[in-house]
Amino acid sequence: MKDFGEVFTPESIVQQMCDLCEPDISVIDKKVFEPTCGNGNFLVEILRRKLRRINQVDNPRFDLEVIWSLSNIYGVDIQSDNVQEARQRLESVVLDFIAKYQGSTLTRSTIAAILEVTIVVGDTLRDKDTLHFYDFQPNFDTGSFEVTKYSLRDIERDYANCRRISLADVSDGIARIFSLPDKPKSKPEPLRSPRHNSQLMLLKRGGR
Ligand SMILES: C[S@@+](CC[C@H](N)C(=O)[O-])C[C@H]1O[C@@H](n2cnc3c(N)ncnc32)[C@H](O)[C@@H]1O
Repeated sequence: MKDFGEVFTPESIVQQMCDLCEPDISVIDKKVFEPTCGNGNFLVEILRRKLRRINQVDNPRFDLEVIWSLSNIYGVDIQSDNVQEARQRLESVVLDFIAKYQGSTLTRSTIAAILEVTIVVGDTLRDKDTLHFYDFQPNFDTGSFEVTKYSLRDIERDYANCRRISLADVSDGIARIFSLPDKPKSKPEPLRSPRHNSQLMLLKRGGR
C-alpha cells in the first residue's frame, strides 16, 4: 500500500469533485480517463451519472447508449487486484441499471468484454506505448460500433495538439493556434533527375 500511495477517496469528496466537473462529466459521449483509478471510486460515480442521462422509456438506442457510456470511461491502475475490483463494481452498476429496463438484451459477457479493454493494469507513467485504449463510436442505424485503437502515447500527443476555437473565430483561430507554416521562401527543387522523371512516367503509364 505504501509503495503505491494507495489511499482511496471518500464518497463525499468523490461527489464534490464530480459536481465540479458537471455538466460535461455526465454527458454520455464525453470521455473520462483516470490514470490511477484504484478500486474505481470515481469511475463508478461517473458511470452512474452518465447512465442517468439515458432515456429508459421505449428507447431503441438503450443498449448502444449503455455500452457507449461504459466505453467512454477509462481507468488504469498498477495493482491488478484494484483493477479487478473496479471492473466488478462497474459491472454491477450496469447490471443493476439494465435490470430495470425490460427490453435490454445486454449480457454480462458483453459488459465484461468492454471492461477488459477500458479498465486495465499498467504503469501510467512508464507504459505509454503498451497501454492501449479503444474509441467506440456507435452507429444507431446499423446497431454497431466503429472501434479505433490508440496507444496512451498517441492520446497524449493528440491531446497536446488539440485546441478549442470558437465558431466566430475559425479562420483566425486556426492561423493563430496552429501557426500555419510560412510560405516557402525559395522555390522547391524541381524534379529534374532522370530517376524522378522515369518514376513519373511509370506512374502515368499505370494510369494513377
Ligand atoms: C491515492 S490512490 C487513489 C485511488 C483512486 N483514484 C481513488 O481516488 O480512490 C492511488 C492509486 O494509484 C495506483 N498507482 C500508483 N502508481 C501508479 C502508476 N504509476 N500507474 C498506475 N497506477 C498507479 C495505486 O495502485 C493506487 O491504487
